[in-house]
Amino acid sequence: MTSVDTTIRLIRTTGRDAAGRPAEACSPALARAPWEFDGVLQYGPGSSMGDVIPAGAPRQGALPEEYRTASAEELHARIRAAKRTLGDRVVILGHFYQRDEIVQHADFLGDSFQLANAAQTVPDAEAIVFCGVHFMAETADILARPEQRVILPNLAAGCSMADMADADSVEECWEQLEALYGTESDAAGRVPVIPVTYMNSSAALKAFCGRHGGIVCTSSNAETVLEWAFERGQRVLFFPDQHLGRNTAKKLGVPLERMPMWDPRRPLGGHAGDALLDARVILWHGFCSVHKRFTVAQIEQARAEHPGVRVIVHPECPMAVVDAADEAGSTDHIRRAVAAASEPTTFAIGTEINMVNRLAAEFPQHEIFCLDPVVCPCSTMYRIHPGYLAWVLEALVRGETPNVIAVPDAVAAEARIALERMLDAKPRA
Ligand code: 13P
Ligand code: SF4
Repeated sequence: MTSVDTTIRLIRTTGRDAAGRPAEACSPALARAPWEFDGVLQYGPGSSMGDVIPAGAPRQGALPEEYRTASAEELHARIRAAKRTLGDRVVILGHFYQRDEIVQHADFLGDSFQLANAAQTVPDAEAIVFCGVHFMAETADILARPEQRVILPNLAAGCSMADMADADSVEECWEQLEALYGTESDAAGRVPVIPVTYMNSSAALKAFCGRHGGIVCTSSNAETVLEWAFERGQRVLFFPDQHLGRNTAKKLGVPLERMPMWDPRRPLGGHAGDALLDARVILWHGFCSVHKRFTVAQIEQARAEHPGVRVIVHPECPMAVVDAADEAGSTDHIRRAVAAASEPTTFAIGTEINMVNRLAAEFPQHEIFCLDPVVCPCSTMYRIHPGYLAWVLEALVRGETPNVIAVPDAVAAEARIALERMLDAKPRA
């Protein structure tokens, strides 16, 4: 199997990617170990390296030297041994964007919706080790049983998109929208605005939604969730990902002119009051730096070089890219689409490179490549490395619980309301 690490090594030695194409990486720092970036004020190498990290974002302390100097084989052996000792007391959840060296140790692998579900249903585990990013671990903590502990192996595994909507800016936006639209329901009983937050957001924002009659969505159930919101509200405030919001609302027939974008740095989001009166979906100015890299030109090139290619992208990609693709869907949708292809097919995929490389290795009957020829992983998913996994598991064996993600009870109670609404809004088949 090919992971980002091995891909980077391949590129360095041969100048080719895993599919044999001439390739390069977005940052030479990708060849360095993630712990070289712990404690510093940057995301580390990868797509969101240029985004600003909020001052309050968690920082990972120094990883003990024995885990930094151990070979890959030693780390894997230690992880396996610790897992054996811990048995059912620990469950490891892994997101599809994790590197293969982590995925091989996961008990459950999935998209963010499936992992939220898994966190709620894992049997008797005392600890859930979440190999993903911070907002996913927070969600697991909210949904898990009170006595279960959720552990994020590297606290620096945040999400730059989630950071783009902070609770204060959303509260300010809400006050301005209330002043504009009032608080009275219309004749059909619909409130002026329903807040919808993408799963990729802090627990505080999920709590905000729970408090204000809103809901959480993931990329797999965003359509069902928007329909839920339109039944209850005259309009929706959607944060933080403008692209998922726009792509989903467009699919449901909302015209673009009724989807104004809210810039949190400007009064009234950068609009004259009247311009917002006709809004159906107010889109927050947020985006994913991984999915922003995909372009229509890449799709045109893939079609020119691979006649008959099937292009599938994640709905965090810009609208023009989603429109030019053959289909768009969550990470699980992409996986299922590839798995369901009965004839050998060429797929160009617009999502994170670890997942694309894994699909290519898993389905050798197909030709599968990443739309973006430059290798550029999610810089925060990249921060979870076997060194950290071995460290937290061995700490658990000793009876310690490092890197616990614990959402305060009051926040968790409100966030749970919005998350439970989300879990009821099943993804469309
Ligand atoms: P999924 O909901 O498809 O797992 O995506 C999560 C994510 O962070 C995509 O960037
Ligand atoms: Fe966040 Fe984008 Fe990484 Fe997903 S891929 S965790 S949205 S930065």
